[in-house]
Amino acid sequence: MVLRKLVAGNWKMNGSLAALGELAAIREAADRNASVDVAICPPFTLIAAAVASQPGLTIGAQDCHADDKGAHTGCISAVMLREAGAKMVIVGHSERRADQHETDAEVHAKAEAAIRNGQIAIVCVGETEAERDAGRAVAIVEGQLDGSIPRAADGAQLVVAYEPVWAIGTGRTPSVADVAEMHAAIRTKLVSLLGSAGTGVRILYGGSVKPDNARELLSVADVDGALVGGASLTAAQFVPIIEGAAACA
Ligand code: PGA
Repeated sequence: MVLRKLVAGNWKMNGSLAALGELAAIREAADRNASVDVAICPPFTLIAAAVASQPGLTIGAQDCHADDKGAHTGCISAVMLREAGAKMVIVGHSERRADQHETDAEVHAKAEAAIRNGQIAIVCVGETEAERDAGRAVAIVEGQLDGSIPRAADGAQLVVAYEPVWAIGTGRTPSVADVAEMHAAIRTKLVSLLGSAGTGVRILYGGSVKPDNARELLSVADVDGALVGGASLTAAQFVPIIEGAAACA
């Protein structure tokens, strides 16, 4: 099944009010390439300002708490993100799995919180280099999906991002054959977990997506978009990726 492609930018702990100036050209590119969905996920503090500056652009968040409210100092709930205008939430990014020791069970609960509050949950999975070298990449990702995917979700609520940890921020990417193998395995797993709804869940590739490799990666079967870190920080880099996705749509 050919799904509508999604190109989502993850600004991580980067950006400032001044950086929101990039959003005008990104929104214009999104409008010009209406066959593709485009989103930017800035830090929490910039979400409301980003929504106010470009109401036509989809803005998301990079994490949420599993609870809607409560005694969790320093955390942000999906309810709060919804009020700020976020329409998507990235959960289980490998940097959070590593730095904040997030488990699959926590990622699952966060994805449920996002969906419960009307947001699209982008659940990230991906193997380390040692796991790939050991021939365990597919098994590791299947295990993450088993633990992290809310079972009642469909393609309107859930997106999966395959991001090999060793490809993030390194300039290295898997071969097209390895991307194809992994995305096919993720599709099969989603169908086994969600039934026919699994055919409608978009599977993004993430990890060193740049203007010069976006088209090749986005033409692979079952690559339904991209999760872009560094290259989403400027319109100069992100707009050609949007255009690459539209060329493959
Ligand atoms: P990168 O990051 O594009 O800078 O490799 C991707 C991500 O971590 O989502």
